Amino acid sequence: MRASSPVTVRTEGPMNVPLAPAGMLAGPEQAAGLAPYIVSQAVWAPSVHNTQPWWFSADPGGLCLYADQARQLAAADPDGREMLLSCGAALFTARLALRAAGWVPGAQVLPDPAMPLLVARLTWQHRTAPTRFERRLAAQVRTRRSHRGGFDPLPLAPQLLAELVEGAARYGAVLQVVSDEGIRAALAEAVQAAEQALELDSERARERAAWTRPPGSTRDDGVPASAYPAHAEQTFPYFPAPGFARGHGWGLPPLSTLPGRSAGTVCLLATSSDGPADWVGAGQALQRTLLTSAAWGVAAALHTQPFQLGRGRGLVGLRPGLYPHLILRLGVTTQAGVGVRRPPGSVLVTNP
Ligand SMILES: Cc1cc2nc3c(=O)[nH]c(=O)nc-3n(C[C@H](O)[C@H](O)[C@H](O)COP(=O)(O)O)c2cc1C
Repeated sequence: MRASSPVTVRTEGPMNVPLAPAGMLAGPEQAAGLAPYIVSQAVWAPSVHNTQPWWFSADPGGLCLYADQARQLAAADPDGREMLLSCGAALFTARLALRAAGWVPGAQVLPDPAMPLLVARLTWQHRTAPTRFERRLAAQVRTRRSHRGGFDPLPLAPQLLAELVEGAARYGAVLQVVSDEGIRAALAEAVQAAEQALELDSERARERAAWTRPPGSTRDDGVPASAYPAHAEQTFPYFPAPGFARGHGWGLPPLSTLPGRSAGTVCLLATSSDGPADWVGAGQALQRTLLTSAAWGVAAALHTQPFQLGRGRGLVGLRPGLYPHLILRLGVTTQAGVGVRRPPGSVLVTNP
C-alpha cells in the first residue's frame, strides 16, 4: 500500500458545504457557496511540472474552468496539449467534488471557438447521493501522488485493469495495457532517448529547471524536492524519471539499493483524434485512472518525455489510428512524495 502524504493547504470540505435537500433544486446562493469547495478539491489534480495551469470563475449560475496560458510550457508544450490534459484532470476532480457532496454536475466542455481558453462550464441544480465508488475516488484526491521510481514485483488485479480501461473509454480515451515484453522495452527506450535529448536541449532544460524547486523552496507550484528522486531509480526495463535534481543530489533518497525494481504495469493513454477537446477528455480519463488506482492502493508514474520533443507520437506498439498522450506505469510502492498547490482562493474569481 502507498503511504499517504501530508497536504499543505487547509480548505473546507464537503461537510462545510450548504446542501439542499435531496432531489430539490438549489438556489443561486447555494451555487455560489459551493464554488470555493469545488476549487479546493480541483486544485489537487495532477498537472505537467505542477504548473497548475488553470483558474476558475464563479457566478451565481455556476463555475467556469479556464486554462491559464501564462503557465503553459512554451518550449515543451507549444500546442498547449499538456496544459489541456492538466485542465481535463482538474475538470474531472471538480465534477467528482460535486458528486461527493451529493450534487449532479452538468458540464459543457470545449470547444467554444470564441473563448479558446474556456475549458468547461459546470452547473449543479439537483442532488443525488454519491455512489460508493464516487466516495472512494473522492477520498483519494488530496493524498494521491505521482510516483517517480520502481514498484514492488506484484501483478495488478485484472479487475482493476478492466475498470481502468472501461473508465478511460467513458471520456473518449483509450487506455492500452502493454503486456508484450518487447514493446515495454521499446517504450522504455523511447523514454530514455527522450530524457537524454531533453537534458541536452537548452531551451527545454531551462524551462524544466524553472519549474523544479530546490530543497527549502516555499513556492507552491512546480515540482518540490520532496516529490522527485535524487537519482533516477533503475527499473526493469528502465523508465527514467525527469532529471529534476539536475545532478545536485536534491530530492528523495532511493527507496531501494537493489538494482532493477519492477517498472510496473505499463499503459498508454491515447485518443483517436488529436484536438483540444480530445486533450481535455484524455485529462479527465487520466485523473479517473489515477484516482481509481489509488483507491486500490496502486500508485502511478507518468512519462511524457517522448511527447515533449514533438516526437514519439508514432510509438512502437500503439494501436493504429491512435494519438498517444502519456505513458503510465502502475504498481505498488511504499514511497509517496509530498504535494504542494496554490491556495484555492488565488485561482478563483467570484462574480456577484
Ligand atoms: C499532462 C501531464 C504530464 C506529466 N508528465 C510527467 C512526466 O513526464 N514525468 C513525471 O514524473 N511526472 C509527470 N506528470 C506528473 C506531474 O509532475 C505531477 O502531477 C505534478 O508534479 C503534481 O504532483 P502530484 O501528481 O504528485 O500531485 C505529468 C502530469 C500531467 C497532468
